[in-house]
Amino acid sequence: MLLGHEKVEILHLPTPLEYLANVSADLGVDIYIKRDDLTGLATGGNKLRKLEYFVKDALDQGATTLVTVGGAQTNHGRLTAAAAAKYGLRCAIVTGDEYPGEISANLILDGMLGCDVYFVKDFEAGVRNVIAKYEAEGESVYYVPMGGSNELGMLGYYECAMELTAQAEDLGIRDALIVTTLGSLGTYMGLAVGLANERSPLRVKGINVAAFDWQTVAEIREACMEYFGRVKAFYGLDLEMAAEDFDVEKDYDFGAYNNPVEEVREGLYYMARREAIILDPCYTGKTWAAILRMVREGKIAQGSKVIFMHTGGYPGIYTRHHRLEFERELMKYMHTDEF
Ligand SMILES: Cc1ncc(COP(=O)(O)O)c(C=O)c1O
Repeated sequence: MLLGHEKVEILHLPTPLEYLANVSADLGVDIYIKRDDLTGLATGGNKLRKLEYFVKDALDQGATTLVTVGGAQTNHGRLTAAAAAKYGLRCAIVTGDEYPGEISANLILDGMLGCDVYFVKDFEAGVRNVIAKYEAEGESVYYVPMGGSNELGMLGYYECAMELTAQAEDLGIRDALIVTTLGSLGTYMGLAVGLANERSPLRVKGINVAAFDWQTVAEIREACMEYFGRVKAFYGLDLEMAAEDFDVEKDYDFGAYNNPVEEVREGLYYMARREAIILDPCYTGKTWAAILRMVREGKIAQGSKVIFMHTGGYPGIYTRHHRLEFERELMKYMHTDEF
């Protein structure tokens, strides 16, 4: 029970916090990785921590169907489908994106999990119509917001902040900086609020990946303050936070959401070849590229300690526009006519 709320237990917690010896030696910075890609269901990822709270709430309300929203290749949607499958609920994803012309990456997993995906033209009306369709079929619908990022979803990463604090204490790295991806904000806010409210010595930096149209750090901080206001009121927290308390970066989003970026792919190859850990090109790859740049720029000091939050997203490498780039660059490893 956290801040008065119960959850179902989907994950095998704590997820590992591992030292990356090879890249640490290369970079002169101690890099640890929090393996929230290893969260159990359907290839894992950060959203399952939030879904533990949503599923409990849905079951308590007698819901029979989860409906959520996101991009066509939403990791959050895939993991909502996974949690629904595990608890015998139906699931639907509504997206304002167009059908990408093929069933690839997360869409394959959505279908495997028995989840309907609706590609709608008018997003707001589409969500209403899909919910109405299930209700007309006698289902009781529970709506999970975009990215699972609301007051309840925040608890997943509030809990992770406590988990990391204990793990960092055990490893003797209390002064580490957590670096995490910032999309719909829930992960970053759960960590930031959790660390502050629990008086943790750890700090957290969020790397914006341009999932929303924020143009400046000030705009992201404004969104953080708005989210914090809701969280504070919802849980009655005795905690003050100011805009400057939210350490967020706008300079490493590479200009657009989920765009193919050579520097990001170079980072993916580097992590795979030195540590055999697979990142994704939309979220964790950008955050990793940001860490590498910040080390080069001296924004992350030599000899300091970083905890890189691996939030999952692995199926994203099979999205068509990324897959084509990988094919072009990795073809040299395919030896078809030499022997
Ligand atoms: C793999 C991955 N990492 C990070 C994020 C960002 O998390 P949040 O939306 O909680 O900011 C997402 C969101 O979709 C994701 O799928």
